[in-house]
Amino acid sequence: MKALVTYYSQTGNTEKLARAIYEAIHVEKELLPVQDVKGTVGYDIIFVGFPVHAHSVPAKLFPFFKGLPDGQNIALFCTHGSLRGGHLPKQALEHAVGLATRAKILGTFGVRGKVDAKIIEALVKQAEHRAWAEEAQEASNHPDDDDLVDGKEFARSVLAKIGR
Ligand SMILES: Cc1cc2nc3c(=O)[nH]c(=O)nc-3n(C[C@H](O)[C@H](O)[C@H](O)COP(=O)(O)O)c2cc1C
Repeated sequence: MKALVTYYSQTGNTEKLARAIYEAIHVEKELLPVQDVKGTVGYDIIFVGFPVHAHSVPAKLFPFFKGLPDGQNIALFCTHGSLRGGHLPKQALEHAVGLATRAKILGTFGVRGKVDAKIIEALVKQAEHRAWAEEAQEASNHPDDDDLVDGKEFARSVLAKIGR
């Protein structure tokens, strides 16, 4: 039984969540930024994490999702500025599911992640970004300890689905 936790993270929020997920796994495991992943064959489960960008998955991750082997078990996690559990991050996770067409999705999870104040200031003026940018103003202490506890619980629930 071998697990991979991989992530893309520009400002560290998704990496923080990836590390919490990694800590909760008690089988053979690797933690790698997505750009350092050499191959995806041989893992029983791959956790893939990303920051929500423009309501979706950063384009950098498209090749990774598209290259996953047939039937590969994966679990998706993300961080986002908008409210947790809202429709905006759900939409981004659905985009990721749509990209990983050949994989078997065992779970999805998202928590808030702080957004640089300068980015919010610029984006709140743009109609297509206003909704999440306004919500993101209160995300400055995320991901927090509770988010990381929930992330670990998510990891355990995914592993339970494959008998671990
Ligand atoms: C270019 C850009 C676009 C973003 N778009 C969204 C968005 O559409 N919805 C949202 O909730 N957060 C958005 N965010 C906020 C990030 O998802 C959030 O800060 C995330 O936690 C960053 O993760 P990272 O530190 O791993 O890069 C955006 C951030 C950037 C830089």
